[in-house]
Amino acid sequence: MKSIIITGATSGIGFDCAIQMAKIAPNEQIILACRNIQAGNETIRKIKNKTNHQHLICLPLDLASLQSIKDFKDKFAKLANPVITSLINNAGLQNIGKTAYTNDGFETTFGTNHLGGFYLTLLLLPYIEQNGSIIFTASDTHDPATKTGIESPIYTSGKDLAFPKETNEKENIVGQRRYSTSKLCNVLSAYVLHEKLADKNIRVNAFDPGMVPGTGLARTYPPVLRFVWNNVMPILTYFKPNTNCAKKSGKRLANLAFNKEQKQLNGIYFSDGKVTKSSIDSYNKSYQAELWKSSIELTKIKQDETTIQLT
Ligand SMILES: NC(=O)c1ccc[n+]([C@@H]2O[C@H](COP(=O)([O-])OP(=O)(O)OC[C@H]3O[C@@H](n4cnc5c(N)ncnc54)[C@H](OP(=O)(O)O)[C@@H]3O)[C@@H](O)[C@H]2O)c1
Repeated sequence: MKSIIITGATSGIGFDCAIQMAKIAPNEQIILACRNIQAGNETIRKIKNKTNHQHLICLPLDLASLQSIKDFKDKFAKLANPVITSLINNAGLQNIGKTAYTNDGFETTFGTNHLGGFYLTLLLLPYIEQNGSIIFTASDTHDPATKTGIESPIYTSGKDLAFPKETNEKENIVGQRRYSTSKLCNVLSAYVLHEKLADKNIRVNAFDPGMVPGTGLARTYPPVLRFVWNNVMPILTYFKPNTNCAKKSGKRLANLAFNKEQKQLNGIYFSDGKVTKSSIDSYNKSYQAELWKSSIELTKIKQDETTIQLT
């Protein structure tokens, strides 16, 4: 049985993506890659109840640890038929508090949202089948033109983002910028990988779920803002453009990865339910090349660990 891997399925958009996937992919094994196995097993129970899908498993993965990502790949490789039809890089976080670091010493937002998914993808590439798909869940916050109210991204270099200098700016401003920049990195990565995988027939797309209030993304917000996010902002889904409930966005994400009707989409940014232009910076070839090079150096991935040409 072939596998679909979804990261960040224990809550929010990823959870609803897994539910939709269970409906449209009854013959695939769905692997929930999660850092909290107990939460993962509870999620499996809920998905089984709703869909009766019989082939759901959970494998441990902490994207804030390169070792954990490597261990995940090793465990996956030992499965009876380690073939991937879709890899959905959806897990992510926003940290608007004190600067935090991953196990490997990278700033947490960049380390988890970009480097973790990047490394996972490259390690899993040897197992992704021809006609398979890779998706990066990005965000419209990566694009200053969309005026989301979140600080605009600033791309300098992967190393600057991994090891940021101290700053006197307010924590929430810095945190928002790190988040939107990490989401820009998701779009940049999707475009680079798409180009580099052209001869391998693997689809790579970036997905914007829109604003999805009520998910766990606001967990580092102050209590009042968290209350508003969970209890007031969901009303916006009824009338604000590109503001969605998790069910709608999760469904779109699963469909983009696996639905037959969307299998022609490749190398695109999918936002508000359609192919859309992403930010000017996301098409910047020197940003793409710099991020590619620095991500390889930071993760220290070796050529014999992946099937894509690293240099
Ligand atoms: N909500 C929005 O408005 C919005 C808008 C645009 C884009 N997005 C993107 O959508 C994606 C999903 O976010 P969400 O809103 O659904 O938030 P969420 O409910 O907080 O879901 C995030 C998921 O990522 C997982 N995760 C976080 N850090 C991880 C790590 N180190 N290793 C493995 N898994 C980790 C979480 O696992 P735990 O349960 O263990 O914490 C959770 O399952 C993110 O990439 C986010 O940037 C969200």
